[in-house]
Amino acid sequence: MDTRRVYAASRLTRRENHASVRTTPQQVQYEDRNRTHLIDSLKILRSAFGAISETPMLVDVIHARLKGRNRVSMLDVGIADGSSAIKVMAAFADRGVRLDLTGVDPHIPATAYSQDWIYSPKLMVASFDEFEPRCRYDVVNATQSLYYLGKLDTALRKLVSLLSRDGVLAITIWDDGCILKILHDRYLSPRDPAPGPKDIANALSGILPPTYTTQTYYFEGPIALNGFTDEGRLEESVIDIARRSAHVSNRARMLAYTYIRSLGPTSVRRNTIIVASPSC
Ligand SMILES: C[S@@+](CC[C@H](N)C(=O)[O-])C[C@H]1O[C@@H](n2cnc3c(N)ncnc32)[C@H](O)[C@@H]1O
Repeated sequence: MDTRRVYAASRLTRRENHASVRTTPQQVQYEDRNRTHLIDSLKILRSAFGAISETPMLVDVIHARLKGRNRVSMLDVGIADGSSAIKVMAAFADRGVRLDLTGVDPHIPATAYSQDWIYSPKLMVASFDEFEPRCRYDVVNATQSLYYLGKLDTALRKLVSLLSRDGVLAITIWDDGCILKILHDRYLSPRDPAPGPKDIANALSGILPPTYTTQTYYFEGPIALNGFTDEGRLEESVIDIARRSAHVSNRARMLAYTYIRSLGPTSVRRNTIIVASPSC
């Protein structure tokens, strides 16, 4: 049975996928631009979030399930430039836990390798569906990447299959009411709304071992929508992240811009962390 808990956070202040597709130089340039674009958009979005982050909650809820272990392996699916994972590693180190981190992402920028990692991670440039590690992980984490992993059921099965015995699965997604989810579901991809926490918990119930239970945690924080000299780019970045991988028509984009501009200087982002682990 799912146990839901509200976590108050308001005061927290290549292996390249060459496959068999042949690309022209123009296509390669276009793809590279998109990759840089996504990383730039993430950076801009993070600055709009300010200091309030769900990372402390994520670390708390995973740490509580590690049963005093001081060294754990973690797979981070969709690690991007490592900006989130490095904070997770540092927060675990503060709690006396060494994280042996593996990150998988088809688009890992060069900056990921030069981050100030406490322990060097293994960074695997690969799409998750192609990633076939020989080991299993004490923690499998997917922060805001599930939407990119293809069919929900297939992706969840694979995430679960990579857990070691008694491993912990953590999935962070948008919660209802999050500006990014509203933009995605209402304006940018109305035919394909992003799954919510209940969808994930329901799907997981048919996949997890019978000894596992899921718990759901909620995070809420502000997102600044102005105050940037390059205000247009902030809106563009919000839309870029909110559209996920969906193609967006000019009309949908304009409606999304209009919605953002109707919101005033700040709005709300809401995340849910769904954690699956063996019941005590
Ligand atoms: C919104 S970003 C989240 C990045 C990071 N986890 C964070 O919280 O800052 C989504 C990430 O998923 C990655 N991604 C897209 N398709 C993927 C796939 N098939 N397998 C693994 N990662 C993927 C993207 O490249 C991107 O870095």
